[in-house]
Amino acid sequence: LAPLALDEVRHRPPGMWRYRELLPVRGEPVSLGEGPTPLLPAPRLSERFGVEILVKDDGPLPSGTFKARGAAAGLSRAVELGARSIVMPSAGNAGAAWSLYAARAGVTMTVTMARTAPEENKAEVRLAGAELVEVGGTIADAAAAARSIAAETGAFLAATFAEPYRVEGKKSAWLECFDQLGDGASMRLPGTVVTSVGGGVAAVACAKAAEEVRALGWTGDPAPVVSGVQSDQCAPIVRAFEAGAASAEPWEGELGTIAAGLRVPAPSEADLVLRVLEGSGGAMVAVSEEEIRTALRDLAETEGILVCPEGATTLAALPRLAERGELRGPVVLYNTGAAGKYLGVLAR
Ligand SMILES: Cc1ncc(COP(=O)(O)O)c(C=O)c1O
Repeated sequence: LAPLALDEVRHRPPGMWRYRELLPVRGEPVSLGEGPTPLLPAPRLSERFGVEILVKDDGPLPSGTFKARGAAAGLSRAVELGARSIVMPSAGNAGAAWSLYAARAGVTMTVTMARTAPEENKAEVRLAGAELVEVGGTIADAAAAARSIAAETGAFLAATFAEPYRVEGKKSAWLECFDQLGDGASMRLPGTVVTSVGGGVAAVACAKAAEEVRALGWTGDPAPVVSGVQSDQCAPIVRAFEAGAASAEPWEGELGTIAAGLRVPAPSEADLVLRVLEGSGGAMVAVSEEEIRTALRDLAETEGILVCPEGATTLAALPRLAERGELRGPVVLYNTGAAGKYLGVLAR
């Protein structure tokens, strides 16, 4: 990283492009207005758990999830590299975000999804004029379909961790969060970050963002403990963590979680996710569907913050993380999307 003064960055408009030297895009990005998003104190939860708790709420981003950050950086860079046609597998929300950014850029987008992916996400892809390819099975089958399409057509493959730019874009949530926690002189790092884990991009991005701001001298704080949460209906990385394994075996069976973004039975870079979380001192924990629903209602009733089911897993995991040892504050819970995208499920 070339030296860069925090002061200079802070004189720019807030939002992800304030940190553009830390992002892979060289020219003008394809943008739909990426943040900044709120970092909300949760005073009642803080009192309950005896530690300062905040919620980084990425619900207000374009397309209603943090996938916009990965799409803004990843699609902008792909277009900059000459891609005119892009293909990606998706659990739902990433495909929706990339379809909108592709429409914005005027490039062709193909999204492969499991037939069981949320109908709302399929509608978003179609509304944005992208091609939707539905396949039987899970996102692992959708990933295989996307790879064949890329091989046949020469389309740019934007699958999770298949290219290096999405994770860079997702770093911006954390650069922004550390900036929001900071004071006039420096950024401040949380003691603990809790995020849901599907493919694990958010978790890896968080650790990388912390490493970079420390290297730039934007803070003297120690790197945060990053802990990850999966649904116990699809918990391949939790199972590997508990077994002390270096990589994860594919999860078999029904992926019955309402947190549709976490229906990732064979995460492609589980070993990287495990290494990053364990290296930070963090843990992987699984939560039940009942715990996700209870936490979602709890956060809405207690703090007025309505989160998506994936976001709710972070509060659901807190008692279990507290049991494992001290929760180093401040604790940031990451809400990756707007509850409004899940109202059908939540109403039921
Ligand atoms: C709302 C939401 N949260 C979390 C995730 C999991 O993201 P990651 O792949 O970064 O672990 C997804 C993935 O689809 C998602 O849509």
